[in-house]
Amino acid sequence: MLQAIGVSVRFGGVAALTDVTVAVAPGEIVGLIGPNGAGKSTLVNVMSGFQHPMPGQVFLNGRNVTRDKAHERAIRGISRTFQAARLFANLSVAQNIAVPAIAHGHPPAESERLAKDLLAWMEMAGLADQKGGALAYAEERKVAIARSLAAQPSYLLLDEPAAGMSEADANYLAEKIREIPGRFGCSVLLIEHNINMVMNVCDRVAVLNFGRLLALGTPGEILENEAVVSAYLGESE
Ligand SMILES: Nc1ncnc2c1ncn2[C@@H]1O[C@H](COP(=O)(O)OP(=O)(O)O)[C@@H](O)[C@H]1O
Ligand SMILES: [Mg+2]
Repeated sequence: MLQAIGVSVRFGGVAALTDVTVAVAPGEIVGLIGPNGAGKSTLVNVMSGFQHPMPGQVFLNGRNVTRDKAHERAIRGISRTFQAARLFANLSVAQNIAVPAIAHGHPPAESERLAKDLLAWMEMAGLADQKGGALAYAEERKVAIARSLAAQPSYLLLDEPAAGMSEADANYLAEKIREIPGRFGCSVLLIEHNINMVMNVCDRVAVLNFGRLLALGTPGEILENEAVVSAYLGESE
């Protein structure tokens, strides 16, 4: 399990997170939703080691990793994407994906094979030799997910992977995310604004509002939760 327990983060006078507890179990896809500024990215930063909770703890498979740095957690199996992350423009698409595999100690030839397998899975094999900088926006976002899987993580944290995509591209990506636990043995924490996508893809959904956990449950439970509907779903749907 990847657990955030009693996590709080303040930025000056802003309480970005207050006493948030969320866990992702093996094989699970957990959605993380909430209005802009609710603290979603901050929670992913805390879980992946880019932000220290104060107070609060992060456990990975029962081990306290709160003090472990991001690269140490990456070695232990936590991979994440950033909102609006870019590829290396001058490396090929396949090389972009191979980089994390090489960084995790796989030989170059094996890393390239893994990169090509991941591209084939994304149905983007034909783009392997293109430069990272030459891709269209949606293609770049899909390659960024393939790249984060090249580290062969057990937990993948995706920060708005479908942001700015067409509905067709977002639906395709949703299908691919749904395949990740079974195919790669990797659990997913998915931050996403598209409520339909979250409800279709996720086993459980956590709702943040003003840095607090408003609700946690199955998609069905969340859609019927009055506090969620009035604070969040009611306003946007
Ligand atoms: N590095 C930072 N410095 C100061 N304030 C921050 C920082 N990161 C986030 N915040 C603030 O913390 C709150 C939560 O931000 P964030 O986690 O990015 O929300 P979300 O991802 O849900 O949109 C917001 O009010 C944001 O302005
Ligand atoms: Mg965010």
